[in-house]
Amino acid sequence: MPKIIFINADGATREVVASTGQSVMEAALAAGVSGIVAECNGAAACATCHCYFDSNAGCTGEIGEHENEMLGFTASERTADSRLSCQVRVVAEMEGMTIRVPSVQ
Ligand code: FES
Repeated sequence: MPKIIFINADGATREVVASTGQSVMEAALAAGVSGIVAECNGAAACATCHCYFDSNAGCTGEIGEHENEMLGFTASERTADSRLSCQVRVVAEMEGMTIRVPSVQ
């Protein structure tokens, strides 16, 4: 049950205790984190769950081919830290990790 810290574009922070195995998107929505829309409910078909993860964290898994394509449709700038949060599974190693939520989805 790692604690993940979400940081919104306005600087507001929210600590979320997430369950391992669920997606980061599911954990965020369940906790009421604002700024994540998730229109397709985790099907990797909308890119409205875009978040910025620490690309050096080493615990977010690889970007799949389809996710990589969908990251071309994010409303906010894609960076090296960009991921679709529905495609990233919560793992224990995420304890204390910060995830930034973009200003628009
Ligand atoms: S919820 Fe639609 S791509 Fe993640």
